[in-house]
Amino acid sequence: MSDAGETPEQVLAVGVVVNGHHRSATVPARRTLSDFLRHDLGLTGTHVGCEHGVCGACTVLLDGDPVRSCLIFAVSVQGAAITTVEGLGQIDESGDPASLAPVQRAFRDCHALQCGFCTPGFLTTISAGLRENPSPTVEQAREMIGGNLCRCTGYQNIVAAVLRAAELTADPDAPLDPHPEPDTDTDAAGGRH
Ligand code: FES
Ligand code: FES
Repeated sequence: MSDAGETPEQVLAVGVVVNGHHRSATVPARRTLSDFLRHDLGLTGTHVGCEHGVCGACTVLLDGDPVRSCLIFAVSVQGAAITTVEGLGQIDESGDPASLAPVQRAFRDCHALQCGFCTPGFLTTISAGLRENPSPTVEQAREMIGGNLCRCTGYQNIVAAVLRAAELTADPDAPLDPHPEPDTDTDAAGGRH
């Protein structure tokens, strides 16, 4: 069968700064930012769930703002600064979690992940949210995560983790107890699960 008549796919060089490092790849014009990060740059911490902008699993920070990377073409972010979950904090060779970002420590402290699939999107979303509002109320914490879906429905502990992350951001040595407790209402993310 001949390929005559088929238009070759257009490819373009894309260069960005990801987690503080210049990265580039040549990709099809239709490559999404999420696929660019995962498949071209090997940063598989960014997860892809719905691919329709609904679940928030693919959230990364684009010039500091949270965006759904499944809805953005990689070529459209040429030259931008992107932070993925891999750029939030680090564990050193001894496994010492002290170098984790506050929000990562908070998720550990509050048992805020189950399967963990949604976690990268929550971590990036909450990181940006706490920059806007460093000391949220329970209700504001719920609003902060209102655009992210957790199929394990772990919202109660995720809300607690938002409050704990705020606490750790203000004081990295803040003791775990007492820590703010979310409401007893189990419908912590607004009844979407
Ligand atoms: S994978 Fe992007 S919002 Fe669900
Ligand atoms: S922890 Fe499993 S989807 Fe959220």
